[in-house]
Amino acid sequence: MQVNGSHFRSIWLADDNPEVLVIDQTLLPFAFEVRSLGTVSDIVLSIRNMVVRGAPLIGATAACGLYLAATTDSTEANLQAAYQDLLASRPTAVNLRWALDRMLPLLLAKPASTRAWFARKLAQQICDEDVATNSGIGNHGLSLISQASNSSSNCAVNILTHCNAGWLATVDWGTALAPIFKAHDAGIPVHVWVDETRPRNQGASLTAWELGAHGIPHTVIADNAGGHLMQQGKIDLCIVGSDRTTRTGDVCNKIGTYLKALAAYDNGIPFYAALPSSTIDWTIRDGCRDIPIEERSAEEVSHIRGRDTETGNLTRIRITPDNSSAANPAFDVTPRKYINGIITERGIAKASEEALVALFPREAETRPI
Ligand code: MRU
Repeated sequence: MQVNGSHFRSIWLADDNPEVLVIDQTLLPFAFEVRSLGTVSDIVLSIRNMVVRGAPLIGATAACGLYLAATTDSTEANLQAAYQDLLASRPTAVNLRWALDRMLPLLLAKPASTRAWFARKLAQQICDEDVATNSGIGNHGLSLISQASNSSSNCAVNILTHCNAGWLATVDWGTALAPIFKAHDAGIPVHVWVDETRPRNQGASLTAWELGAHGIPHTVIADNAGGHLMQQGKIDLCIVGSDRTTRTGDVCNKIGTYLKALAAYDNGIPFYAALPSSTIDWTIRDGCRDIPIEERSAEEVSHIRGRDTETGNLTRIRITPDNSSAANPAFDVTPRKYINGIITERGIAKASEEALVALFPREAETRPI
């Protein structure tokens, strides 16, 4: 995507040295800074602290982490240790495990002397494939927006999205936002209701920044506003991303997604999840039971970050009483019955095991339950 007239991906490899470059997402929308990551522990910390975040990007970053591990010590012991450290960096997005499981056996099958070269090639391939995959999601989702445009009485298609499932959450294009970028580029008028997405505000900080940079009309709303807007007929369609989707179509995504799905269901508004097949965990059927939900620091709830409008400095302030405790479950599960469809790189499937397996028969077999 374009940032100030230059094309950027959210992650890339330096040309001539073992270095991974990422956009520091903790500073957006106030500062655009590129960070250099040179070690596995840099990668682990950048995933854990959400310098990079979003399920597909977490997977791509972990792949780059294995590449860095292979450049320092390509023995099996070191690669296995790096695999474990990377896998433990965040628990919910299954793309992390997907990328590591794809790379490690291929690396170990090669002579140690060629592993660093091969790891770079595989990490690059995972990044490139992510871009193509998300572009495919965008094309399939575009057909939905185009249909909504034909049937909507509003002058623009009003789409609600939650969290950030844009290009920053992937290597490029995004998942939920890819159809929106493509619709806008195709001349379909769209307007996006952007859930702020407490506690980390990925919607207010990242989605709003991406949409603004692309010239797409959007309005940031408090997380609690979506149901009311649906009752008022101001939302035509909801599209969200996913961190892990079961083979049966239950969708785990940023905390608060479930409440939007309930409100959409009650108001007869179509609710779609857009995700690459690497987000489907073929080993599980019941999202509420089987998906590990990350518990993050209570300080993300009790404190808030932003720019001090007087000094211009980034600052962090407390918003709860000193003695109140806070809890911070980072994701929730939307059961498949509330989901109208799953937009993937191969097409739009019903949120059901039959439909997902029919679309991805080989992947569904890879890890039978
Ligand atoms: O905690 P985050 O910011 O990593 O959570 C991200 C989300 O929940 C996204 O919606 C999801 O990863 C899909 S990204 C294309």
